[in-house]
Amino acid sequence: MEKILILDFGGQYNQLIARRVREQRVYCELHPHSMPLDEIRRFDPIGIFFTGGPHSVYLDDSPKPDPGVFSLGVPILGICYGCQLLAQSLGGLVTAAEDASAREYGKTETAFDPSCALFRDLPEESITWMSHGDYMARVPEGFRLAAHSAACPTAAICDERRRFYGVQFHPEVNHTTFGSEMLHNFLYAVCGAHGDWTMADYRRRSVEELRGRVGGGRVLLALSGGVDSSVLAALLSEAVGRQLTCVFVDHGLLRKNEGDEVEAAFADRELDFRRVDAGARFLGRLRGVTDPEAKRHIIGEEFIRVFEAEARTIGAVDFLAQGTIYPDVIESGFGESAVIKSHHNVGGLPDTVDFKEILEPLRLLFKDEVRQLGRELGLPESLIARQPFPGPGLAIRVIGDVTEEKLSLLREADAIFREEMATAGLDRTASQYFAVLTNLRSVGVMGDGRSYDYAVALRSVQTSDFMTADWSRLPYELLDRVSVRIVNEVKGVNRVLYDITSKPPATVEYE
Ligand code: XMP
Repeated sequence: MEKILILDFGGQYNQLIARRVREQRVYCELHPHSMPLDEIRRFDPIGIFFTGGPHSVYLDDSPKPDPGVFSLGVPILGICYGCQLLAQSLGGLVTAAEDASAREYGKTETAFDPSCALFRDLPEESITWMSHGDYMARVPEGFRLAAHSAACPTAAICDERRRFYGVQFHPEVNHTTFGSEMLHNFLYAVCGAHGDWTMADYRRRSVEELRGRVGGGRVLLALSGGVDSSVLAALLSEAVGRQLTCVFVDHGLLRKNEGDEVEAAFADRELDFRRVDAGARFLGRLRGVTDPEAKRHIIGEEFIRVFEAEARTIGAVDFLAQGTIYPDVIESGFGESAVIKSHHNVGGLPDTVDFKEILEPLRLLFKDEVRQLGRELGLPESLIARQPFPGPGLAIRVIGDVTEEKLSLLREADAIFREEMATAGLDRTASQYFAVLTNLRSVGVMGDGRSYDYAVALRSVQTSDFMTADWSRLPYELLDRVSVRIVNEVKGVNRVLYDITSKPPATVEYE
């Protein structure tokens, strides 16, 4: 399989570079800039990216790759800091832009030399996304200038003999109009890629690998019904069939029909599927608990207990499978760009389940690739396109104490909202949307009578990373339809509110 190596110098868009390369059907991995030369050789890349980063290349402690990387005969594309690094390492000169006008930030009109392979068949002028305070004052011998902007004569450089390219701007960011095309040119015209990274191939390869590794062993998986664990279950069942046991803990806090949908998706597959209906047990533990953190804690702990109890009835297993995906691997901090995500998943590793090894067959896939693999494996779209759903489920969407009656009100209201969003074609454009049962009761008038019922809040947000989010500008007509339906169809609700708060200061969930 052809591979691209991305050396990480700490830039904020590094994951994005990896995703863009994979979108062009070329496999790539992000590694720390300090990756030793012999490891790079073993990785055997057809091309190498140097990412951007917050440092200045002329400072002594700035991150540098092993200098042997320039003698491998492998094409290199340096982006921003990576471009300056290329220049500085090969005899050029990089300095701080003393003159503020030489610093660039944002969308910048840029002119290209189409005779350079990166810009082949592209317009001679277009917009790029710049973000730099340093610039290349002198380019190294063997290089020529390939792009410029009003403020920066050295917006791109190339040495076509050695196949070294550098761009001061960020082709991986959508604001660079022809960024994808430039990456495509580098991958295909310069590195000679063929585009052999497809989910059909990945499926075939992982099934083979899993069979080799698992042999006759037994595999245990905690299935939550979320996208990652569902795809993992489908992949493992294809690889090892009934040697796989999936434990689906239904904590009774799922959305309408969700538990049955998950079960149905696995009904025809070869595996040992066990649904544990533990709703009563969870509700019992949650009775009278109103503090959000206490609720989360109880659910997390209970989840592990139920899983362990079920696992004990299975006996010893050889492998525990986990739905770790590539962003988790990157974010858990291997590289310069380590962002520590506060992971608040229900589950975690049960410590009393006896197993020898962990299997993580999705650990090299991005979320969109996991979905693609799920489609490849024939999972229903309702599971694959599922929006994020918190581990503690509806318990953190019922404000205050959780009861079966309240859960049932919420399930109905949420289902109406979801149905109307889908009918309006907005289910794919909103990042996440759901209903919340507030603990506010208020007076209303229904027919000739007075009501004193709950208010349901609707939440819909737009976000790319869930760290920050904006509320969705949903059409009034849609909100009106949802409101009318909820108060008419859900007994016990007489008021519907729409949440117009961003994150921060609010969070996406209410608890
Ligand atoms: P907040 O409320 O923190 O939510 O703004 C951000 C995203 O995380 C989801 N979320 C969770 N996901 N376990 C999860 O797996 C949890 O405990 C949890 N709490 C929040 C939330 O739905 C949103 O997508």
